[in-house]
Amino acid sequence: MAERAKTAAAPSATLIAHAEPKSPAAEAYRSLRTSIQFAGLDHKCRTILVTSSTPGEGKSTTVANFGVVLAQTGSRVCLIDSDLRRPTLHRVFGLGNNRGLTSALLEALPFAEVAQTTSVPGLSVLTSGPVPPNPAELVGSNRMRESLEAAVDQYDMILLDSPPLVSVSDAVALSAFTDGVVLVVQTGKVPHEVIRRAASQLHAVKGRILGVVMNAVNLKRDGYYYDYYRYYHSYYTPSEGKKGR
Ligand SMILES: Nc1ncnc2c1ncn2[C@@H]1O[C@H](COP(=O)(O)OP(=O)(O)OP(=O)(O)O)[C@@H](O)[C@H]1O
Ligand SMILES: [Mg+2]
Repeated sequence: MAERAKTAAAPSATLIAHAEPKSPAAEAYRSLRTSIQFAGLDHKCRTILVTSSTPGEGKSTTVANFGVVLAQTGSRVCLIDSDLRRPTLHRVFGLGNNRGLTSALLEALPFAEVAQTTSVPGLSVLTSGPVPPNPAELVGSNRMRESLEAAVDQYDMILLDSPPLVSVSDAVALSAFTDGVVLVVQTGKVPHEVIRRAASQLHAVKGRILGVVMNAVNLKRDGYYYDYYRYYHSYYTPSEGKKGR
């Protein structure tokens, strides 16, 4: 496993399950862990995609803290930042991001060789790596599926972060490669119809929804959504499909 980047900053305040294990928030992530453990009784449940219908509902926060509480049980856990549109996990864990998922895929390296250890015992993070011009192709590739299947030999649980379902196809493709999906829903903000559409997109590719996390996001910045929709829209214009931010 690669060494943790020497220049890395400290983990961010987002990691409440690590910083404040007795907090109600940490307890909520432990409840999620219990629910998923029950879901895994009858079906294999080693690779889990975390996604949401719209941007900013709390996917990355959920992946990071769910990963922490899973690792706290002694499991070997790997978080994969497969949100190649807006990668976040390297910042949450204070890790470098010169190499990551995209490097592993392009160089055909096992995920465990590129993943970095974190300050949380048992928890590794495969950061996004350099953002490619073709995220959907990369995360939907056969190599992604095969690498994920192979990574299960190295880890007890693998959680994947992803872009939102309404905007781009990446998460739908990933849901077909994983054992289950956790859908994060920002409490009271997203119309039911949008959530229903997200769920049917997953069902259409036989993605198995394990559960829904109702998340109370506290957005501090005005204009967050506006910026996001504009950003994702630029990716969806076919003639500009390979445009960056
Ligand atoms: N339960 C919560 N309580 C308070 N703030 C939260 C909570 N969950 C997420 N947030 C905050 O909301 C913002 C968006 O969260 P996050 O980055 O996890 O969302 P996301 O779904 O990954 O977004 P994106 O679609 O951009 O990837 C962040 O500033 C995060 O700190
Ligand atoms: Mg995110």
